[in-house]
Amino acid sequence: THVVTEACIQCKYTDCVDVCPVDCFREGPNFLVIDPDECIDCAVCIPECPVNAILPEEDVPGDQQQYIQINAELAKSWPSITKRKAAMDTADEFKDKTGKLDLLVR
Ligand code: F3S
Repeated sequence: THVVTEACIQCKYTDCVDVCPVDCFREGPNFLVIDPDECIDCAVCIPECPVNAILPEEDVPGDQQQYIQINAELAKSWPSITKRKAAMDTADEFKDKTGKLDLLVR
């Protein structure tokens, strides 16, 4: 599967959702996740994300490993998103910040 990592939090640019051929993105208040049961590992979403938040599971760095489980868990309850929309108002302010896990609204 592919995994949405920390960079997405409080940005949610949503460029990724337009290109997914299997509509596997799910939307929360300030983050998107990929449903690992739906993702076919086509990787077309990777270059779409302006903050490089999406990675193949095997490339997720050590300090982001918890996002593998977070994507799987939250994908079960969050609704599908298949059309791009405006980024969050806070996107520009938060796009380069790290340590955003505490900000994640579940
Ligand atoms: Fe998030 Fe990047 Fe998609 S910021 S919504 S993973 S384009």
